[in-house]
Amino acid sequence: MNFLDRRERRPITPSLRDHVLEDLPEIAQITHDELRSKTIEAWAYALAQSAFDRVTDIPGEANPGTLRLRRGNQADHLRSVTRIALAIADDFVGAFPEARIDRDIIIAGGLLHDVGKAWEFDPENQARWQGDPSQSGLPALRHPVYGAHICIAVGLPEEIAHIALAHSHEGGFQTRSLECLIIHRADDPWWSIAGAAGLLDPVSDGILAGRKITPRLLPG
Ligand SMILES: [Fe+2]
Repeated sequence: MNFLDRRERRPITPSLRDHVLEDLPEIAQITHDELRSKTIEAWAYALAQSAFDRVTDIPGEANPGTLRLRRGNQADHLRSVTRIALAIADDFVGAFPEARIDRDIIIAGGLLHDVGKAWEFDPENQARWQGDPSQSGLPALRHPVYGAHICIAVGLPEEIAHIALAHSHEGGFQTRSLECLIIHRADDPWWSIAGAAGLLDPVSDGILAGRKITPRLLPG
């Protein structure tokens, strides 16, 4: 039995918050002060409850052991998805100014959609879940569910918790918000495009083949 401990494994320090901002500099583009500070707090809280010191320490993988970047880490994925989602939002609003898309929610939601991966990728959790999936489940909770928990725990708006929960397959059971739909559409093909461009480790080849994707060879 593993009791979910609400205390941090490590203290949330000013340097931990500084590292979140260093690793995810797009946070500075969030114009709403409380949303910006709670975006930092959510990642700091998630990291403090995990084995990872920084967002850049979390492997660049879609799920543990699958679709793994050859080079780069989870921050590269989060930042790219956020920039793609912003490009979608800005293009629509540019062409159709009557469209109402909340840029702050796109940025915070894009940078936090995988905040639950700090827990799902934690080696200690993985060892426990893989040790006896019949006891714990494998994983006990996927990162969208744990990510929603983090967002709620630090007092983020429900719009952000919704994006953490519904950006992935879990959202298939819900009506997604407009901003969540944009994050979902930026995130869902990201790993396929990375794979087609040859940016994923060969461990990903089986899944790519199932998607009828052949990795393009990289120079050299
Ligand atoms: Fe993602």
